[in-house]
Amino acid sequence: MTTREHITIDVGVSRAAVAPDLWGLFIEDLNDALDGGLNAECVRNGDFEFSAADHDGWHPLTAWYTDPPDTAEVRTDAPLHPDNAHYVRLTGPATLINDGWDSIGTTAGQALWLSFHSRTDGERGGRVAVSIAGDEDDGLAQAEIVVPSGGWHHCQTILTPTADGRGKLRIDIPSGLTVDLDHVCLRPTGADGRPLTFRPDLLHTLKELRPSFIRFPGGCLAHGLGLDNLYHWKTTIGPRHERVHLPNLWGYHQSRQIGYLEYFELCQATGATPVPVVAAGVCCQNYPGGAQAMDDDAMETYIADVLDLIEFANGSLHTPWGEQRAALGHPEPFGLRYLGVGNEDEITDDFRDRYARIEDAVRERHPEICVIGTSGPQLFGRDYDSGWAFARARATAMVDEHGYRNPRWFHQNVNRYATYPPGSQVYVGEYAARSNTVRSALAEAAFMIGLERHPDVVRLASYAPLLARVGHTQWTPDLIYFTATEVLPSASYHVQRMFSGERGTVVHQVTVGGADPEPVTLPTTGSARLRSPGSGIDYTDIVLDGAPHAAVSTGPRGESVELGVIDPSSASLEFTATRQAGSEGFLIELGAAAPGSHLEIHIGGWQNKSTVVLRSDDGITNDDDGPIRWRGVETSVPVDVAVRLDGARVRVWADGELRHDYEQDLRPEHRVVAGASSRTTADGTIEYVIRAVNAHPTPRVASVRLPRPSGSTISEVTTLAGAAPDDGQPFTASPVTPCVNTIIGHGEVELDLPPWSFITAVIRPARDEAR
Ligand code: AHR
Repeated sequence: MTTREHITIDVGVSRAAVAPDLWGLFIEDLNDALDGGLNAECVRNGDFEFSAADHDGWHPLTAWYTDPPDTAEVRTDAPLHPDNAHYVRLTGPATLINDGWDSIGTTAGQALWLSFHSRTDGERGGRVAVSIAGDEDDGLAQAEIVVPSGGWHHCQTILTPTADGRGKLRIDIPSGLTVDLDHVCLRPTGADGRPLTFRPDLLHTLKELRPSFIRFPGGCLAHGLGLDNLYHWKTTIGPRHERVHLPNLWGYHQSRQIGYLEYFELCQATGATPVPVVAAGVCCQNYPGGAQAMDDDAMETYIADVLDLIEFANGSLHTPWGEQRAALGHPEPFGLRYLGVGNEDEITDDFRDRYARIEDAVRERHPEICVIGTSGPQLFGRDYDSGWAFARARATAMVDEHGYRNPRWFHQNVNRYATYPPGSQVYVGEYAARSNTVRSALAEAAFMIGLERHPDVVRLASYAPLLARVGHTQWTPDLIYFTATEVLPSASYHVQRMFSGERGTVVHQVTVGGADPEPVTLPTTGSARLRSPGSGIDYTDIVLDGAPHAAVSTGPRGESVELGVIDPSSASLEFTATRQAGSEGFLIELGAAAPGSHLEIHIGGWQNKSTVVLRSDDGITNDDDGPIRWRGVETSVPVDVAVRLDGARVRVWADGELRHDYEQDLRPEHRVVAGASSRTTADGTIEYVIRAVNAHPTPRVASVRLPRPSGSTISEVTTLAGAAPDDGQPFTASPVTPCVNTIIGHGEVELDLPPWSFITAVIRPARDEAR
């Protein structure tokens, strides 16, 4: 049995009030998080608005089919609404069928509200049979809808499945009836019999996180690919069949059935304060041709819209937008306190100009609103530096910074915010340790202890992305995976829940004794390897550490060719690469084989548009330097490459141009980390909330010394442990879930920190000694 190492956690005096809104959520329609996810709607493409602009090959009948085949005619004349122009015409006998996203999940007895708009030609209406058919075409639920004669009518009924299962929606048009159909919906109903807005199991999973705030409607989605794709809140609050649909820059379609109104309702349902993010008058810089900026006329309207949003959320019933809110069923204000402006924007002059105009207008009219600026897509680098300089010069209240890094980075950055200068505060709006392993979840926990420790700097934080439908993801890792019928929370979800579920009100100084940070060193040996997934490359004139090497070739399947052994702290490599086939570039690996630490130098990384140096630790990769835009590798055009490793310094040349010159980060990793806060209960009892991470194979026991030692204590300890560090992967539920136990003790409290664990302990005096 491995012996437990002993550490001490000394809880010192209280330093500052905990940031009250610290733990929140960030929701974006990515990975089918909304349509196909949190949106309770079961019918996919119910408005027949899918198109090739959403995704290659998509069209108004995507997700639909008919029996007999191809009997639905797509039309746009005299539509239900001009912003929802497509509908279908069917002449019976014909059946229109929708599979939902993969399938429609049913629960026995859970009533489903079916609704559509119909129109018949002339005098004749009719009866339409509707059903949910299971995989074997067995009926899970049946009903009938009367389709009135004449113009567009709203028709509805209830389908109550008799079994749990997965099925498809069928709408059977009888012989002799011709009917137009649009805005087909199928939603579970709540206790009051009304259709639900949010899928109940996912809503429950979010509520369990007890979010203080919700940021919406997205990161990249908020500023969009091109100005036409930018998210305008006003087009998302009316009746659902009148909302403006948009292509989703993540490669699918936004119905916007969850629009601004529903986001505010989600905040109410979860008790969170809303944090809407509006574009800063520029679109995403990843748009071909770069970020486009609104012209002056458009800006004037846009700024008025932003001010109207604040009025919609907070205005009295005597204001036009407050009145609108009430008309939509919400006389009470939504309590908006924060407003994000911009997301990960490139900090250009256009951005600065448009951002400043929006922020100035909000400051002038609504000084009560905390405006949150942006510092680019990375936690360092050019946009980060200029974004922060701009925000500080403008005294922007808060700045949103984003970081998707490997677990090592999080352990190295536990104290990141200890040295931030005073002034603009921080919203860590998007972060995740790459991979969905226990290792990543613990790295996030260590980092989050660091966030909680610095309430003077860090006010808000949210993991990203939040939701992902299995089989429909564009981004991993994610916090919560789901299918039609299951919710699969990751280990990171449990970590988030442990933080938000138990919070103190004041932060305490903490000293950990007996566990030093772990040094990060360069590997002592490794090899140089070449790869070219997606291309065929010939390498000639190879010189490794001064010695010539025979020419080699790599192929599109990505196998690597080994050039020889190197010392990763002192190595040099030169060669000429000529692409013979394919459309990508190539990469050089230097150092240990996975999962050890090594560098990956991509010449023509990310769609052959850049060069970038990545570093992989424990088999999980980070951008270490770049990406830096580049012309790309061309077929038959040789590229001369040179690489030098001198200690931590990395230099890379392409065609004689020095593309990368930086030092690898060798700061130590904080793998054993503790934090403490306290709160005073209504009867005056002080409770301490202790958090500790042991991201290590060695089990530890921690003696906790409180500032006001009490005699006997009761500790409720929640522990996440019991899996190997690399257990856990995307699309599955966490291999571990937290367990709770109670410890009754006297004097110092002893807490067990199993290998690879995170604990949150609430320590209170035993009843007779409370106070
Ligand atoms: O969370 C996924 C994406 O990551 C967000 O849209 C964007 O802000 C970031 O690049």
